[in-house]
Amino acid sequence: MANFKVSRVETTPFEGQKPGTSGLRKKVKVFIQPHYLQNFVQATFNALGADRVEGATLVVSGDGRYYSKDAIQIITKMAAANGVRRVWIGQNGLLSTPAVSAVVRERVGADGSKATGAFILTASHNPGGPHEDFGIKYNMENGGPAPEGITNKIYENTTTIKEYLIAEGLPDVDISTTGVSSFEGPKGKFDVDVFDSTSDYLKLLKSIFDFPAIQKLLSSPKFSFCYDALHGVAGVHAKRIFVEELGANESSLVNCVPKEDFGGGHPDPNLTYAKELVARMGLSKTHSEPNPPEFGAAADGDGDRNMVLGKRFFVTPSDSVAIIAANAVQAIPYFSGGLKGVARSMPTSAALDIVAKHLKLKFFEVPTGWKFFGNLMDAGMCSICGEESFGTGSDHIREKDGIWAVLAWLSILAYKNKDNLGEGNLVSVEDIVCQHWAIYGRHYYTRYDYENVNADGAKDLMAHLVKLQSSIDEVNKLIKGIRSDVSNVVHADEFEYKDPVDGSVSKHQGIRYLFEDGSRLVFRLSGTGSEGATIRLYIEQYEKDSSKIGRDSQEALAPLVEVALKLSKMQEYTSRSAPTVIT
Ligand code: G6P
Ligand code: ZN
Repeated sequence: MANFKVSRVETTPFEGQKPGTSGLRKKVKVFIQPHYLQNFVQATFNALGADRVEGATLVVSGDGRYYSKDAIQIITKMAAANGVRRVWIGQNGLLSTPAVSAVVRERVGADGSKATGAFILTASHNPGGPHEDFGIKYNMENGGPAPEGITNKIYENTTTIKEYLIAEGLPDVDISTTGVSSFEGPKGKFDVDVFDSTSDYLKLLKSIFDFPAIQKLLSSPKFSFCYDALHGVAGVHAKRIFVEELGANESSLVNCVPKEDFGGGHPDPNLTYAKELVARMGLSKTHSEPNPPEFGAAADGDGDRNMVLGKRFFVTPSDSVAIIAANAVQAIPYFSGGLKGVARSMPTSAALDIVAKHLKLKFFEVPTGWKFFGNLMDAGMCSICGEESFGTGSDHIREKDGIWAVLAWLSILAYKNKDNLGEGNLVSVEDIVCQHWAIYGRHYYTRYDYENVNADGAKDLMAHLVKLQSSIDEVNKLIKGIRSDVSNVVHADEFEYKDPVDGSVSKHQGIRYLFEDGSRLVFRLSGTGSEGATIRLYIEQYEKDSSKIGRDSQEALAPLVEVALKLSKMQEYTSRSAPTVIT
């Protein structure tokens, strides 16, 4: 047993350590400055207070991006010095964000211990590597991100910090081999437990889904499957779950070996960045694929996002959550007793609202950010939720869950095809979506992203849109001058939310223009970028007439897009003639 001492290191505050939507995200070159990470970690320990730190069991892992391995050693030594009792690390420091949430909620250590919190090392869907992003966020005992009360305190502490504690004499831990190492510090024992990254997460997923039914689907010669982890951490879990447990062919996995720089790619599962999957699924404009798989999906760097595709077919995330909710009770054992409620973020299309109405489910519209769902789930008010930003999940954990979404879709496919895997035609992803639209109507939907634009220009654009809202008549006059075939705006505001559980109010959550025919334009500034500003424009139009639900969405939305761009003076404020990404 090795001994360590506690060393107090003098430090001074860094500017800008305010955690955003999902923790602190900065360029690696910022994080590697001496004391930078240490200040934030100490500020977190101080915000949690001795009660929650001394004797605690903390999970420390992430998506494996560049600087993660160094960060894990630093955090482990600081945890030891601050009186933490155990640090749990996924093998090689790899745990997807949903797997961390599952581990915090479900794992029991060999000595009966349970986790009390987690440091997740990720910048999610942002690129990685020495010149790209690193990130860190703290999750609480319920497996969900720290609430604003704590993150504000962390930030306050970063502005006044004078010293941090770090263990001296504690060796670097070998995170490549599973097992427990024990050490002795001034406050007693300190254990580092390196464990298999997938076992606990898998156990939870197995208690939710009918694995044998999914296995039957995957092994049917009629079905074919493809999963692209974009070199993020989901690849580790995917191999174990889809190949080893469910019998998918190993060749179904694309980019499933985690890389510190995600292979130089942008690990965001959308039609622009998941290029290889998009080509394989027959959706590339420049490459024709003779026989795409029946089902394809991608994950982001930390495995909480998902994109679902059918053969030559894109499922919008807004439709995806609505379709999962509509089929969950029949297709997924965990929900067989019924849904407690469903929820979506404000910019997500209203497809879920229609399902909730039909099925008489409790429904919530929350601001962007998974934490708002967490409150509803903790209060037993919500079972399934989703966001347009490729996030889908349920109350099995307190993060969105990319692999859960894939298993949900495979469950629906297995259920719809339970009698025709032998004879008969396969009900495809496209069939499922079209049948859904035929019942509930279709929400044409698109999102335009203007990434890394000048921050002042973005602010001015938003201010201009808010100012316009003071006269709806004026807005309608402007719109009629742009396109006479677009309906009238009936309401315009900035979205505000009062949390039904804790009563907290969140203001300025996006600018909305609501039209008479149910169409919507929403403008928001991204909370997850690390440079400049990113403007997001969300465009939606509802079509109930079943003869009109088969159009190309960009074509169907063209009039609204034109109105949105001209009304907002997008080009004038951003100097951009086209968005960076369209989804
Ligand atoms: C993270 C959060 C999501 C949220 C998304 C918004 O992924 O976990 O809940 O929807 O950020 O990102 P944005 O860049 O639009 O602020
Ligand atoms: Zn993510």
